[in-house]
Amino acid sequence: MTVLVTGGAGYIGSHTCLELLKEGHKVVVADNLCNASAKSLERVSRLAGGEEIPFVNCDLRDEEQLEALFQRWSIDCVIHFAGLKAVGESVAKPLAYYDNNLNSTITLCRVMERHGVKKIVFSSSATVYSGDNQMPLSEQSKTGSCTNPYGWTKFMCEQILRDLAKADPDWTVVLLRYFNPVGAHESGLIGEDPKGVPNNLMPFISQTAIGRRSCLSVFGNDYDTHDGTGVRDYIHVVDLARGHVAALDFLMKEKGEGVFNLGTGVGYSVLDMVHAFERANGVPVPYQIVDRRPGDLATVYSTPEKSRRELGWEATHSLEDMCRDSWNWQSKNPQGYESEE
Ligand code: NAD
Ligand code: UFG
Repeated sequence: MTVLVTGGAGYIGSHTCLELLKEGHKVVVADNLCNASAKSLERVSRLAGGEEIPFVNCDLRDEEQLEALFQRWSIDCVIHFAGLKAVGESVAKPLAYYDNNLNSTITLCRVMERHGVKKIVFSSSATVYSGDNQMPLSEQSKTGSCTNPYGWTKFMCEQILRDLAKADPDWTVVLLRYFNPVGAHESGLIGEDPKGVPNNLMPFISQTAIGRRSCLSVFGNDYDTHDGTGVRDYIHVVDLARGHVAALDFLMKEKGEGVFNLGTGVGYSVLDMVHAFERANGVPVPYQIVDRRPGDLATVYSTPEKSRRELGWEATHSLEDMCRDSWNWQSKNPQGYESEE
């Protein structure tokens, strides 16, 4: 099968391209590199035994370029990762987020429809769940009441795709709600390379351990959790990538809409993560407790039961694997893809 992977040069996209190639699929990548390096695809290609990865440097809102892409390659289905994802930035620049994330999705679907390609997997997020749900979150848990524009773009894109599947029974849409992806491919050749100061916990931990940051700020230790720090459902990015391969099987067999959580079902606190990282890698992670970060919840974790049952997928990597592979990537590439080889 030939899969168009939008945002395929990014963190989750690059790991997914590799898993797709390993399963014998062909991939075509469209990415405008606004938050990625084309080096990631060279490395994916190397890991896949030199397999060629056609790459189109384009903005998904550019309908002409997308049209040309669909004319050039015979695409069977699409995995749509492309999007802006920084929560804080979305609060400061809501129009940029709504424009990029909604218009990319709408333009992509319009071109797909014109070419009779009506199968899409969409990168959604646990952020679409309302803050007042009981844990664990299941696909039936309440959605909406998002706390930032980024979350709303995910919520709205889900709705757009659902409406599409309702209007035309030939569409199949799979909405994958990721929890907290961390880690890297075990080779240390591809990984997460955030631009500027990391917003997320794991890249901040590994950049502190390598000395790029002096100290991790732990946002609050007065939550109602076992040690007072926030609890999340961290999932190894290779498990997440494999979840997409499993979703493709569903996409080809089913019609309509499927929504699935991709998490482990286990929650770890910020301090659990710090200590697991130190234990797995034998490096210290200096930290200080600071005020809570506005908008954060105490505890967020999934039940991955439906994905296990209906996709036949489950996470297999441990917390130790996540910490070891994050450090392997960081220590081999202290400055990310800009590091000397
Ligand atoms: P990423 O930034 O590494 O990857 C996104 C890619 O999309 C980047 O390569 C970027 O250059 C590209 N892109 C953005 N806008 C584009 C546009 N208009 N046209 C073409 N390319 C564009 O992020 P990631 O962590 O790999 O996330 C992938 C997807 O998963 C995103 O949609 C994100 O919102 C979603 N997601 C991520 C997380 C997470 O914690 N990493 C959690 C839940 C959901
Ligand atoms: N944290 C710190 N210090 C940091 C960064 C984070 O203490 O420097 C804490 C947070 O307060 C939280 C936990 O670490 O308790 C995880 O924070 P992240 O920013 O890594 O992740 P979030 O759960 O806040 O959000 C992430 C993505 C969102 C996505 C969501 C889905 O950033 O895009 O997971 O659950 F929507």
